[in-house]
Amino acid sequence: MARINAERLLSDLRHLRSIGAQGRGVVRPAFSPKDMEARRWLKQRYEAARLEASIDGVGNVYGRSRRPGKALLSGSHSDTQPTGGWLDGALGVVYALEVVRALSEDAATKSLPVDAVSFQDEESRFLGCLGSRSITGALSPDMEQGATDSGGVALEAALRDAGLAGVPRLRLDPARYCGFVEAHIEQGPTLEDTAHRIGVVSGIVGLRGIRFEFRGQQNHAGTTMMKTRRDASTALYELAHRINQAFPTVAAERTVWTMGRVRVEPNATSIVPGYADMDLQFRDLSEVPLKAFEAVVERLVAEMNARGGVKITATPSRAPIAPTQMDPGLRAHLEAAAERHAPGKWQRLPSGAFHDAGIISAVLPSAMLFIPSIGGISHDFTEDSRDGDIVLGCQVLADAAAAILAEANAS
Ligand code: GLV
Ligand code: MN
Ligand code: MN
Repeated sequence: MARINAERLLSDLRHLRSIGAQGRGVVRPAFSPKDMEARRWLKQRYEAARLEASIDGVGNVYGRSRRPGKALLSGSHSDTQPTGGWLDGALGVVYALEVVRALSEDAATKSLPVDAVSFQDEESRFLGCLGSRSITGALSPDMEQGATDSGGVALEAALRDAGLAGVPRLRLDPARYCGFVEAHIEQGPTLEDTAHRIGVVSGIVGLRGIRFEFRGQQNHAGTTMMKTRRDASTALYELAHRINQAFPTVAAERTVWTMGRVRVEPNATSIVPGYADMDLQFRDLSEVPLKAFEAVVERLVAEMNARGGVKITATPSRAPIAPTQMDPGLRAHLEAAAERHAPGKWQRLPSGAFHDAGIISAVLPSAMLFIPSIGGISHDFTEDSRDGDIVLGCQVLADAAAAILAEANAS
């Protein structure tokens, strides 16, 4: 059995953490100088592992095995949230690198082809899962055209500044692969709460985003009487409250929604705000509540606009992601490997976070492995996992990868 090298794995993960480190966390948003530095470092690590390595025109780092036969693709993303944790994405990226190395060092597995990848902008600086969408042909020129980050920087400018303008973009050849496996931290409390050490993902949530704009009349906060005001912020608070009242009536058990970004202009104590905007995001494992939420939003906006005063517009704020089920064959291999290395200490669970595997699953059988997150904390500088769990998860992935490849290349 191919044995992973725990020291090498942890040392590479810590090195990646050092690129963009801030305190215990990491700031490495897609296309930033630190993100590109990390991608160039990873390319060198792929080359040292004897993969044919490249960075494509959207920043995906891709390491292609030189061995013949059906290949397994593994990896995740190395960009982070604006204030991110050190393992979100990085774990699966370095696991894939270590699996390549471990399999090539064992006589029984050294001929098995594993390709490694780090996708770009999974964390939605410009366009969520930009890299995996691009590599699967799901990124249209329309989606790219108007894409900007929250500070107004255009995707096109970021590509140019990162030196990627005109660089060819990779496209996956599904015929090359038997599947894609992504490892990740759980980013929630389930594994820790149930004292499990490995999670095998059953499905990944789908996601929608809506941006609301509220246009009223900016005015003096002392002289403008309440009944004549057209206060954009009051309309925002009312809509947010009504959403929180109405959504539970159509939500499923695991449906979640977040109004995590608002802006009020000019954001001054003595001014009735003339403009506000807000992003709403919602997720579920099925399309049913997502569609129901869209209908609720349409109704609430129509009701509030019918009163006159502040004018509200609602537009999609992001390319939607559909809910996906993971491939049963790949899952069975992950489950068997989990049972071998952590008997009775693994479980099946859905993912409330979205992942590149949700996009790749449109073109390749895909599956995901989770390890526990301490305290269930993620998208925060304090995000962490135990070294023992990090090492165990990688060994489970290596074992599953060998079994998947042996089956795919049998005969
Ligand atoms: C991805 O990081 C997500 O927000 O689920
Ligand atoms: Mn992630
Ligand atoms: Mn994330």
